[in-house]
Amino acid sequence: MTDSAQPKPPPARTGETAAASLIYLDYAAAAPLCEPARQAVVDAAHHVWGNPSSVHGRGQLARGALDRARRQVATALGVRPGELVLTSGATEANALAWRGVLAPLLAAAPAAALFGAVEHPSVRAVAQALAAQGLGAEAIAVDRQGVIDLAQLELQLRNRRVALVSLQWVNQELGSVQPVAEAAQLVHAHGGLLHCDATQGWGKLPLDVLAMAVDLLSVSGAKIGAPSGTGALWIKPGVRLQAVQPGHQEQGLRGGTENLLGLIGFGAAAAAIGDRLALAPEVRALRDRLWAILQDSGPVHRHAALPEAQESGHILSVAWPGMEAPRLVMAMDLAGVAASAGSACASGTQQPSPVLQAIGDSSAEWLTLRRATVRFSVGPGLTTQDIELAGERIRSTIERLRGRMRSPD
Ligand SMILES: Cc1ncc(COP(=O)(O)O)c(C=O)c1O
Repeated sequence: MTDSAQPKPPPARTGETAAASLIYLDYAAAAPLCEPARQAVVDAAHHVWGNPSSVHGRGQLARGALDRARRQVATALGVRPGELVLTSGATEANALAWRGVLAPLLAAAPAAALFGAVEHPSVRAVAQALAAQGLGAEAIAVDRQGVIDLAQLELQLRNRRVALVSLQWVNQELGSVQPVAEAAQLVHAHGGLLHCDATQGWGKLPLDVLAMAVDLLSVSGAKIGAPSGTGALWIKPGVRLQAVQPGHQEQGLRGGTENLLGLIGFGAAAAAIGDRLALAPEVRALRDRLWAILQDSGPVHRHAALPEAQESGHILSVAWPGMEAPRLVMAMDLAGVAASAGSACASGTQQPSPVLQAIGDSSAEWLTLRRATVRFSVGPGLTTQDIELAGERIRSTIERLRGRMRSPD
């Protein structure tokens, strides 16, 4: 890739040790810091500090930088700055959407909410927590590609009065795209609100928040080349939320001094989202090249192999039957390829990925695939050479592990 504004991971060259030339294929967990974000943070670190709530000049300098970041994020999303709550990431934005809408309803009467069965664990976690307080929370089943069935959603909407539905744009483990705009129409027809977690789609697919017709939308800086620990919740004008962490910041919806430098980086990365989007076809080609190489690694299964218009182009989820994903990921790391077993948040645990649980069944064949699934995710800054080398490293890792399985000593 040629765009100098894009992040450049460490070059991977034959002859270097694997550790010195780690090829990073885990962009869906956190993308490398992009150049505009790095520059903005470094510049700001020299002279922007203080509390944006302070009335003196120092505080106002910080306030100005924060306002600029907010405007940059709003412009990139095509919304107004005052409609955004800047957060510590999409996890917090998701929790604010759920608690903010549902907590006041729960206080008055029982309420119900739905979420796609492959939503990010942060949505599932807040749904579970609110269910313990009386919320009727239900998952919407998905098919083998991780996509919801709209007819099923409509049935679930008919069965009870649903106040909120969460449907992500792009899945974090499969890259599959959900029918968000269609779902929003159905949800509105039944008097509910639609919250969309757009974390994995932003910067990969063209985003038109207003055409999506959602009521709340979460994004994360970490996936677009901003510092981790940054994100935002967009709230459609007229949608009322209760604060989760009361305080005077963020229009009373999120108390606490803002993560000034992180959010300055978030603003700069958001301002460069057009460059990122322009590179999406090249990123997709790199992902496809990786899959072409991996098909030469013996029996291998690809999850959610969808037509181009129905997936994001940056994720490749594959399983080598008979292998164990945690061991594979460790062996690949040693060989110089960073990947993940399921999404980063689940891979720290030994729990099966809820996404793979939701799209599968209980057959022995599926359990074998589930155990052996590795997620690769790519992005701007990677080159064809990186992918060729990564593919070689992965292939030889698989061959070595297979050899060991055949002769355990
Ligand atoms: C779809 C989705 N939602 C939410 C999150 C959480 O984002 P953050 O790390 O900014 O809290 C992630 C992180 O991987 C994600 O993929």
